[in-house]
Amino acid sequence: MHEHLVREFIKTYGESDEKIRIFRSPGRVNLIGEYIVYNGGHVLPAALSMYTTVLARKMEGRTVRLMATDLKYVVQAELDRLKYYKAYKWGNYQLGVAAELMNAGYDIPGCEMLFEDKVPLGGGLSSSAAIEVASALAFSRLGGHEIDMTALALISQKAEHNYVGVNCGIMDQFASAMGRANHAILLDCRDLSYRHIPIDTSEYRLVIANTNKKRSLGDSAYNQRRSECETALAELKPAFPGARFLCDISLAGLMDNIGLIKDANRRKRAVHAASENERVLEGAKALESGNTRRFGELMVGSHESLRDDYEVSCKELDILVEAALAQDGTAGSRMTGAGFGGCTVSLVKCGAVDSFIENTGSIYSRETGLEASFYVSETSDGGTEVS
Ligand code: GLA
Repeated sequence: MHEHLVREFIKTYGESDEKIRIFRSPGRVNLIGEYIVYNGGHVLPAALSMYTTVLARKMEGRTVRLMATDLKYVVQAELDRLKYYKAYKWGNYQLGVAAELMNAGYDIPGCEMLFEDKVPLGGGLSSSAAIEVASALAFSRLGGHEIDMTALALISQKAEHNYVGVNCGIMDQFASAMGRANHAILLDCRDLSYRHIPIDTSEYRLVIANTNKKRSLGDSAYNQRRSECETALAELKPAFPGARFLCDISLAGLMDNIGLIKDANRRKRAVHAASENERVLEGAKALESGNTRRFGELMVGSHESLRDDYEVSCKELDILVEAALAQDGTAGSRMTGAGFGGCTVSLVKCGAVDSFIENTGSIYSRETGLEASFYVSETSDGGTEVS
C-alpha cells in the first residue's frame, strides 16, 4: 500500500541499514461544538479516513531532514537549534513538535522523514493536527518512547501555539490522536475526559463540502475571539465567582446576567458559547438514541449561532449550508472547524448523496463562481504506526 512512498523515500535519501517505519494520523471533522474548546465546552469531532502519512528512518547525528511528496526540496534542521527554524514556511509544524517533545524531556534521534498529506490543506479538516500528531508519533517512536496518545496530542497543540502561532484548543489534535472508526468523540474540554459515541451510517452519510476558499483572516480572528471570551468571563465573575470557563455558565444563567458584559460583540460571543455547549450535549444524546433528525436541527442551530453571534462564517459557507438544506434527504448542515472558508459538514440520506453533491455543487458555483469539492469520507481510528 505504501510502496510508492517507500520508493520515493529511497530516491530522496538513499539506502541505509536502518528500518523505514511508517506512521499516520487522520484529519477530523467536527460534527458539532464549534469555538468552545477554549471555553471549557464539549465538542464532538470524528477522525476521517484522510491522513498525513510519514515515513521515518533514524540516522547518526543530530540532523533532521524533512520532505513532502508535493515538495521538491528537503528541509534540513539541527535538533539542538530548533528555535531558529520557526520562520520556516514548510517544516515548522514538524520541527515545532520535535522541539516540544524535547522540552518535555524526550530525546529525539537524527532522522529522515517523508510526508504525504492527504487532508486538504487549509480546509478546516485539521490538516495541521494530522501533520503534528503524525510527526509526534514518528519522532517519539524513533526515539524509543511509548508516549500515550493524549500526551502526544497535548505536545502537538503546544507546537501549534509556540511555533505556528495559533492559540488553538485541543480538539483537533485530540481527535486526530484518539479517533475511532464509526464513532465520534464527545470530549469535555475542561478535563479531557471523553467518550466514543457510535455514528450509525446505515441511513445517513457524512458529506463534507469544501468551499475551496482559503481561510483568510482566520488566525488573527481566532486569537481575537479567544480574548473576547476571556474578557466576557471576567465581566461575569461577580455573578459566577466559581466559573473557570464561559461554558461553566448555563445559557439561562448567562441571560439573567448578560448586562454584566459591557460590549455587544462580547455578549454575542458568550451567548454562542453557552448555547453551543447545550447543543452538543443534546446532540450527543440524539446521536446515541438514533434521532438523526434532531441532531440535524442542532447542527443548523450551531451554524446560525456561528454565523450571527460568533461571526466566524463567511458568504461561501452560508451559501453551501443553505444549498445543502434545500436538498431532499439532508438532515442537517453546518460550517465545521475554524470558519472563514474551509468546509461544511452535512448529514445526508444514503440514497440522496449523489443528487446532493450535484445540486449543492451547481448552486454553489452559480452563486460564488467557485467550485466546491465534496468528500464522502469514512470515519477512522486515530494516529498509529502502520505495519
Ligand atoms: C480550530 C481549533 C480548534 C477549535 C476550532 C473551532 O480548528 O484548532 O481547537 O477551536 O478551530 O471550533
